[in-house]
Amino acid sequence: MELPKIKSVAIDIVVDNFIDVFEPSLPGLVERMPPGRLKKPLIAAHGLAMLVTLTQNGQTRQILMDTSNSPLVLFNNLEALEKSVDDINALFLSHGHPDHYGGLGELLARRQAALDIYLHPDSYIPKLLITPKGRVGPWTLEREQLVAAGARLQENTGPTLVAGMALLTGPTEASVGYETPLPGPKRLINGKEEKDEFQDEQALVVNVQDRGLVILSACSHPGITNMIRYAQKLTGETKVAAVIGGFHLTAGGPQLIQNTIKGLQELDIDLIVSGHCTGFRALTQLIVAFPEKFMVSCVGTRVTIGS
Ligand SMILES: [Fe+2]
Ligand SMILES: [Fe+2]
Repeated sequence: MELPKIKSVAIDIVVDNFIDVFEPSLPGLVERMPPGRLKKPLIAAHGLAMLVTLTQNGQTRQILMDTSNSPLVLFNNLEALEKSVDDINALFLSHGHPDHYGGLGELLARRQAALDIYLHPDSYIPKLLITPKGRVGPWTLEREQLVAAGARLQENTGPTLVAGMALLTGPTEASVGYETPLPGPKRLINGKEEKDEFQDEQALVVNVQDRGLVILSACSHPGITNMIRYAQKLTGETKVAAVIGGFHLTAGGPQLIQNTIKGLQELDIDLIVSGHCTGFRALTQLIVAFPEKFMVSCVGTRVTIGS
């Protein structure tokens, strides 16, 4: 699929699981917000929200990718970072888990104008989790409530362009055998539980001039190397300037962590920024495996690719 090259992309980590004022920066590439300069403290929480600013031909577009697990965290951090929901041109929901759409209802309520929301329609299917401590959920993203609140739903079941600058991949075509959806996540079809294969999850991909692909993957339930490989296949571009998001690795166990690290090493990636559902134990191994190119995704981090 033809994905136009853009001049630059900046990604602000509005909500993520981590905050650590001692995490280093990479000047010009990964900058951390000095906490003492903010009008209020940032909050870390189990959720994700990234503000993506795209620039091409003097035009700038802002896409909010996910809305974290609650409006409390989302709006606290937007205010701390001095960002407004009225400046967002579109919203992309990565998949139908509540740690990604928790702030969505409140966002629509507070926003002045209607908002385009991009998502796969399977995101409305009720989801639940089977955990070692028992069943959690089900949760349902209600389509009718979104429409009533002013959402203009842009549902896609395959690759699609947003604002002519970013690609949503649609469902991932798997290409590596070691990454398969974990057994814990389920969805409800006509009241019957089935394993969730995460047809609803998709990555946001841009191609930055002279740098390569920037791939944003929220939870990576289909597997992060699968998602990167699929983005390469869709765009015909192999160089990856950055991969940013949650990789869901600790929950998959030590073998998955090792296989995924090996899989990432085989790909041509300049920068890996990860937090959210990756898990602390997996993050520590990624830091060791990629000492020069791995950074923890803390709230208040800004990644800039391009000029
Ligand atoms: Fe998820
Ligand atoms: Fe998640």
